[in-house]
Amino acid sequence: MDFKEVYNKERVTRKFTNRKVNEKLLEKIIKEAQLSPSLLNSQPWRAYVVTGDALTKLRAESKTKIEAGDKPDEDFASMLSLDWDTFPSQNMATMGASQAYFFRNKLNLFVDSNNDMFNAPAIIFLTIPMKSPAWSVFDLGIFAQSIMLLAINNGLSIMPAHSLVSFPDLVRKHAQIPETEMVGMAIGVGYPDRAAEVNDPKFFPDRVPFEKIYKLIK
Ligand SMILES: Cc1cc2nc3c(=O)[nH]c(=O)nc-3n(C[C@H](O)[C@H](O)[C@H](O)COP(=O)(O)O)c2cc1C
Repeated sequence: MDFKEVYNKERVTRKFTNRKVNEKLLEKIIKEAQLSPSLLNSQPWRAYVVTGDALTKLRAESKTKIEAGDKPDEDFASMLSLDWDTFPSQNMATMGASQAYFFRNKLNLFVDSNNDMFNAPAIIFLTIPMKSPAWSVFDLGIFAQSIMLLAINNGLSIMPAHSLVSFPDLVRKHAQIPETEMVGMAIGVGYPDRAAEVNDPKFFPDRVPFEKIYKLIK
């Protein structure tokens, strides 16, 4: 696929069909993503693909926790408890407002899709060692972006979500991740349910005006 086409397709999918993803294809994608650059070639990342029965069990146990009112406790610190600066805070508020507008009284579409792990047939959990500098988080982000672009180039759709790692101990258990690793992020992959309202392109949020993020100094 033409690079621009791949790049422009990088919008999230909040509901996948039940169609399975070829395991060999995922293996190939993650292998190719290993070419990603990292600080001093440290390659701090590891990828755990969870699918089939293991994912069914993880999804069910995660739902039980949500229904019991357990609060998310991500290894990267709970997203909501973080102290955000004004600029990203405003951007998040804009996204929230536009989604509230589009979803109107259907915000549960968004919440349910997250709670159902987007019905993803496979989830790639990404880790770095517990003992990691901020540089490794940066490297993991690059690795994740490589995986997502490669996945799209191979005809898959993607769903990067912190909600997939709300309960890292549960993920560690079902994905066989050792205690020594931080469950940083996860990417759901699969084929989009085009009939699902939550996937309607009208929910795609805009980006801030370019002048707000760019400056050329000579
Ligand atoms: C690190 C990260 C975490 C995210 N977490 C969630 C999440 O928990 N739930 C969700 O519905 N979307 C999540 N998203 C998707 C973003 O909301 C989405 O990428 C953003 O609104 C822009 O939309 P677009 O990618 O379709 O252009 C996450 C994206 C990233 C990169």
